[in-house]
Amino acid sequence: MCGIIGYIGDKKAAPILMDALKRLEYRGYDSAGISTINKNNILVEKDIGKLEEIKEKREKEKNINFEKIEGNVGISHCRWATHGSVTKENAHPHTDCKNMISIVHNGIIENFSALKEKLIQKGHKFKSSTDTEVIAHLIEDNYNGDIEEATRKALKQIEGSYALGIICSKEPNKLIAARNESPLILGLGDKENFIASDVHAILKYTNKVVYLENNEIATLEKNNYSVKNVNGKIINKKINEINWSPELAEKSGYEHFMLKEIHEQPRAITETLNNRIENGNINLKEELDLNDEELKKINRIIIVACGTSWHAALAGEFMLEELAKIPVEVEYGSEFRYRNPIINENTLIIAISQSGETADTLAAIREAKKRNAKVLSIVNVKGSSIDRESDSVLYTYAGPEIGVASTKAFTAQLVVLYLFTLFMGNLKKSLKKEKITDLIEKLRKLPLQMESLLSEENDIKKIADIYKDKTNSLFLGRGVNFPIALEGALKLKEVSYLHAEGYPAAEMKHGPIALIDKNMPVVFIATKDDYTYKKVLGNIHEVKARNGIVIAIATEGDEEVGKLADYVVYIPKTLYILSSILTAIPLQLLAYYVAVDRNLDPDKPRNLSKSVVVE
Ligand code: M6R
Repeated sequence: MCGIIGYIGDKKAAPILMDALKRLEYRGYDSAGISTINKNNILVEKDIGKLEEIKEKREKEKNINFEKIEGNVGISHCRWATHGSVTKENAHPHTDCKNMISIVHNGIIENFSALKEKLIQKGHKFKSSTDTEVIAHLIEDNYNGDIEEATRKALKQIEGSYALGIICSKEPNKLIAARNESPLILGLGDKENFIASDVHAILKYTNKVVYLENNEIATLEKNNYSVKNVNGKIINKKINEINWSPELAEKSGYEHFMLKEIHEQPRAITETLNNRIENGNINLKEELDLNDEELKKINRIIIVACGTSWHAALAGEFMLEELAKIPVEVEYGSEFRYRNPIINENTLIIAISQSGETADTLAAIREAKKRNAKVLSIVNVKGSSIDRESDSVLYTYAGPEIGVASTKAFTAQLVVLYLFTLFMGNLKKSLKKEKITDLIEKLRKLPLQMESLLSEENDIKKIADIYKDKTNSLFLGRGVNFPIALEGALKLKEVSYLHAEGYPAAEMKHGPIALIDKNMPVVFIATKDDYTYKKVLGNIHEVKARNGIVIAIATEGDEEVGKLADYVVYIPKTLYILSSILTAIPLQLLAYYVAVDRNLDPDKPRNLSKSVVVE
């Protein structure tokens, strides 16, 4: 995922662009670049590495410092590579043949190969292997003296997701922004305006923002701005005032690490997928210290974990049984060693732990090894005890998780379990090649879908308000989303100290229904599927009949749930089995905002510790 900043105003653009970009660096840090217009010329400076590294390198080489570039209008970008490897050429901004147009982009252009071919035939010369450069040439191709119009025409030919910042040397008084699926906001200042991927980056300069919606194009000038749709029709936008303090840069502008980490999920997932998909298949061979023969023999899996990682294990059970057809049991780390687990040479133990230090999980691993079982761990912290003591490890590349409430590590664990499921399904021939291709294709869409889900954050904030005078909540889900209901309840308990319980939705009638009255918010995970969706709708009716408050997590476009529930959060369409990775996000945000509303510090919930190293 990438970060974008744009500036137009009275001041020198470069220092502002670079300062704001620093606060977006959590979005991507393999390369960075800046582009401005000076005396009707496009200037571009870019390099590989983190911002600090680039700065140091440039100072040493007495080269041009990014911050010294002249011009009062410009764009900057920090990159998280998707198309094209990490090279200076592939770093943004990208320009057209005439060096007239410069653009920065976050997203993926799905039809870029076809467009590129056509543009090459027309004589366009490409300098990078990115999908993004196609947009610069496409705009050039459509340019007839009006950059806004050329952008509109170009975007009509593009399929995929984008947040774009565009400048044109022929129109140095304009900064263009466009959005489809990737987040982008406008920041409105005094004789200056901004664009940014994330509001936190520009709070130091303005707290007035406009959220761009899909298929909207904005033209910013120093003193005004306009937003239009792709057909050129003016759209009146609401100006939002943000009341967060800007002095939070060490958390990349976020008020808490928990929120920052929730927002880091698209990147955590991208990194967790990196180098694990090869030629339409999952390749974990080099990482697994178990050979094919050992893996093929596995006919039973026991997953051990605690807390949030235990919830990931339950979702993993669903994935492995449904797709790889391997019987799975899930155990609490703390319980496993005090039973007499039946283990034979064909049983695989999977241990899941973010910290890799959880004493209960570690004890379970040791017990399993005593019984000669092979242990495969899913761990976030390299070099941790669980990492070292396992026979084999698959890492979640979520990055350091500082907030005590686990968020990004959880969804990264789900992704690793999914990868392992597909890998085993292929090895044991329980999944056909075509099916795997489809399952991978949907998996790859997750980071962008997460980004668009995260941009709906304001709706969840409003829902959190209803918890102000509440003391209890129920979380209900079924199938692969039952563990997410448990996780939603745990998150709320941990950070807001409200009592919450997770149940399979159908279990409600066997007891918890007695709790329902007008003071009980019930969160339903009611995504569309061929399995239990209709039954969950029935459960929603049961709660409504007893005056409960229904908050539904539903699939986009589902009007039926929309009519029934008091509040709805929509998630993008995906496979049923992958929906759990998306439904987790609104529940994390809900817990976070309830805690904040109650003046609690979600990063340091009372009595908890990030890594529980006692049994
Ligand atoms: O580091 P681990 O994943 O092994 O930690 C397990 C639990 O202690 C942990 O998930 C805990 O429940 C978190 N505070 C959940 O947010």
